[in-house]
Amino acid sequence: MRIKTGIDGLDELLQGGLLSERVYLLSGPPGSGKTTFCVQYLAQGAAIGEVGLYISLVESPQNIIDDMSNYTLNVVTLIKMQKLLFADLGPRMDYGFIDELNEHGIHDNEMINSPADHGAPSPALVYKEIASYVAEYGVKRLVIDSVSAIRFTSKDLSLQEKEMSRFIRNLKKLGCTTILISEMTDPSAYSIEQFASHGVIFLHNFLYDKTMMRAIQIIKMRGTNHDCNLRSVGFTEKGLTVREMLK
Ligand SMILES: Nc1ncnc2c1ncn2[C@@H]1O[C@H](COP(=O)(O)OP(=O)(O)O)[C@@H](O)[C@H]1O
Ligand SMILES: [Mg+2]
Repeated sequence: MRIKTGIDGLDELLQGGLLSERVYLLSGPPGSGKTTFCVQYLAQGAAIGEVGLYISLVESPQNIIDDMSNYTLNVVTLIKMQKLLFADLGPRMDYGFIDELNEHGIHDNEMINSPADHGAPSPALVYKEIASYVAEYGVKRLVIDSVSAIRFTSKDLSLQEKEMSRFIRNLKKLGCTTILISEMTDPSAYSIEQFASHGVIFLHNFLYDKTMMRAIQIIKMRGTNHDCNLRSVGFTEKGLTVREMLK
């Protein structure tokens, strides 16, 4: 079954959309439109009754909702209908608390669960919370913004890769069609996220002849005869729109 992306002009490049219950990676530099893309994807599903969940690991959900309210996606209405859910799983601790502890002679490494409380949450912890949301609300479409935010909970690169691979393997069992956001700037760089995902889409944001260009490219899409060209992307009142092929 194909799941419509909600992005004008994209589904026709993907034989009708994304294959359901798979895990995809959406990669690109800051400001390239990743959040917009994913909120459009969730809003499209929510509008036809499929519950969508946006897991935010860096930005506060309120900021995302405010920004996305500029578009005609009915984000606020869909949230009130509980068809669109936002969860904040980012670092929780406010400034001040740690300083207070230090004043009392208590150091970070003496605290139980200290990484989960004031550093980036681990992939395993994030997965647990996601799984309970999915079960409770019957989530069908899932977005995680971003995997870059949970990758660095270990300093050891091989451990990071192992943890990410395990995280993605577990996500595949949740029964959701999932988009992982990654803050990547090089589409050809190796990462376990690209390997482990069923499909990879890249959003480009680059300077060309003194003009900022936005473009989209489908890098990989298993089981799909897809377009591979660089295509121009624009913003309308509905969010991102895929336009003509770039030469
Ligand atoms: N109407 C609009 N409202 C908000 N952002 C817009 C609008 N039109 C274009 N943009 C662009 O969208 C960018 C933000 O996109 P976003 O999806 O947050 O990117 P990313 O998640 O990749 O960082 C802004 O930097 C801005 O250039
Ligand atoms: Mg973003």
